[in-house]
Amino acid sequence: MEPVPNREVEVSMMDGKMSEQLKKARDYEKEQGVKILPDERPAFHVTPTVGWINDPNGFSLYKGEYHLFYQYHPYDIHWGPMHWGHLKTKDFIKWERLPVVMAPDHPYDEFGCFSGSAVELADGRHLLMYTGVLGGPDESPLRRQVQCLAVGDGVDYEKYEGNPVIGPELLPEGNSPIDFRDPKIWWDEEDGCYYAVVGDRTADDSGAILLYTSPDGFSWSYVTTLDRCENRYGKMWECPDFFQVNGKWILITSPQEMEAQGLEFHKGNDVICISGTYDKKNHQFTREAVTAVDYGLDFYAPQTVLTSDGRRVMIAWMQAWANSRFHHGIANWMGMFTLPRELSFANGRLVQNPVRELLQYRREPVFCRDVEVEGISRLGEIGGVRLDDVSGRMLDMTVDVRPAEGQDIYDAFVIRFARDDEYGTSLTYRPKKGTVLLDRGDSGFRFDVVTRREAPVRDRGGVIRLRLILDRFSAEIFINDGEQVMSACIYTPQEADGIYFEAKGKAVIDVEKYDIVVE
Ligand code: FRU
Repeated sequence: MEPVPNREVEVSMMDGKMSEQLKKARDYEKEQGVKILPDERPAFHVTPTVGWINDPNGFSLYKGEYHLFYQYHPYDIHWGPMHWGHLKTKDFIKWERLPVVMAPDHPYDEFGCFSGSAVELADGRHLLMYTGVLGGPDESPLRRQVQCLAVGDGVDYEKYEGNPVIGPELLPEGNSPIDFRDPKIWWDEEDGCYYAVVGDRTADDSGAILLYTSPDGFSWSYVTTLDRCENRYGKMWECPDFFQVNGKWILITSPQEMEAQGLEFHKGNDVICISGTYDKKNHQFTREAVTAVDYGLDFYAPQTVLTSDGRRVMIAWMQAWANSRFHHGIANWMGMFTLPRELSFANGRLVQNPVRELLQYRREPVFCRDVEVEGISRLGEIGGVRLDDVSGRMLDMTVDVRPAEGQDIYDAFVIRFARDDEYGTSLTYRPKKGTVLLDRGDSGFRFDVVTRREAPVRDRGGVIRLRLILDRFSAEIFINDGEQVMSACIYTPQEADGIYFEAKGKAVIDVEKYDIVVE
């Protein structure tokens, strides 16, 4: 069924005039953005035009292209009054910058245009749904969060005259009108209506995901509470997304104030994947498992899009809130997004792999087979196996590791990368322990933020596949074809580009390495 056209809804175009705030932001980013040189940014990871970026917003297919918006404070490399920045892409690797689309310029969003999502309407317009913050600054008892709309053509957007469309009156009894944010909208073909999930707090002060529905995208009603935190898995649940992958229903959310749980979750802001069943008729979601989404150090607020060829692709803010203040200034930008990842679901887990479009940008292949690796370098010493043409900070490298024939399983296998005398990040696989440790202790962080994290991995008798994607200021590691992923920023000089392989015991590796070149 086609989405219901909403021609009866007249959208006010702010009298066709752009607000002063939006005009100022457009002028500013136009003037300042060009001052950032291309090699001062990642080559294929999204960064803000200028200033600060946090959550990905409005990731959607619109008129055959993928649009992506972002939480944006152009005027500073720190968080501030939220605007929506804008980009689009055809292949998730090459991005085109577009002008900022929203500024906090209405009474219902005067303290910020917070996170949200987007969908293409049946009449060809692009609908943005976002959270408006009003009433007062952080901590003010007068503060409220409401859900709002803007409509546009892929470049210019105007806020809907009926805003807000979901306010406190559409909250269940006892729920919080203060922490009520981050709507994710989608069109449901089968039911012939729109749905949106929104994060909120229940009376016990912990998170919940509320489900709303609309026949036209403009008038909304409350359906149910899809899931609630009940003080497990953090407190407030931010940035929900709800979709199906390989027949499994997935609810992803980003909890604040998590407590660590073994190797699965870490303290502070984290991201969880709740997989389960969904009785669509009664809107009843039943949990089966709760797992981590990324085991690295910088990953938050992911959002997905369904591609035209049926893939579910996820992108996230590749930055931890906790260390976002400790930026040393590469250039006048702060924060970036992960590489978009294709999702699947297997063996009770979400599986993530880089979008296949990345393969088109691989150049200069290097293959090294049956390389023996033995010995660990001493502290402070550069050692280990170095392979010809295997170095760099913008690459896609897959390392297949196995024990040496007829020998015991090695104790540890280590890849040190982005390495020189001063800096280095390492990945250590301990087959007997069943973990991969990511350590960016020497990755240029001047504050004592968390720099190590360990992921549990499947026992394959000392066999493991590690795919490492580097893009100047980040590393993303896909383990065993995406069963676990670890993401982290590394803000070190680009000259630190060595790659070394080491082992405690003896391991044998095959290496396949490509430079990634995006012109
Ligand atoms: C998550 C978040 C969202 C909010 C936005 C504000 O990182 O806190 O809940 O909408 O950032 O920028």
